[in-house]
Amino acid sequence: MKKICFVCLGNICRSPMAEFVMKELAIKDDFYIESRATSSWEHGHPVHRGTQKVLQDHGIPYNHFKTSKQVSLDDISSFDYIVGMDKQNVKDLKAMFPAEFKSKIFLFIEEGVPDPWFTGDFEETYHLVKKGCSLWLEELRNDI
Ligand code: 4NP
Repeated sequence: MKKICFVCLGNICRSPMAEFVMKELAIKDDFYIESRATSSWEHGHPVHRGTQKVLQDHGIPYNHFKTSKQVSLDDISSFDYIVGMDKQNVKDLKAMFPAEFKSKIFLFIEEGVPDPWFTGDFEETYHLVKKGCSLWLEELRNDI
């Protein structure tokens, strides 16, 4: 089973949005999909209200009990794809883990996903997340 983990700074806004959008898009695929943070700042905190609202607005189901978790060495060992939501996330991931894991670390989408924690624009985030998840879905389906 292919395993993909989306990673952002706090794991409360962008990466959980990607996790739940991807789970919905890939509902019939045999993929394991999770999300994590590069930081421990939001550890144990629930998904941001803005992300919850945008998921509800677009009819995307999500786990109300999901809480922020920092990415670990176990995660980077076990997932096939570790996908940073912006360029800084990718840079941080590459700095956090041994060089042997670099080939598993990817950027979610070329333009990156601006952080709605700062922009306040969760709808913009949703559209980029939807676009990126569709591209990743093709990638995972084509990677045999
Ligand atoms: P996220 O957004 O990385 O998309 O989950 C953030 C959440 C929290 C913080 C920064 C970004 N923070 O500074 O606590």
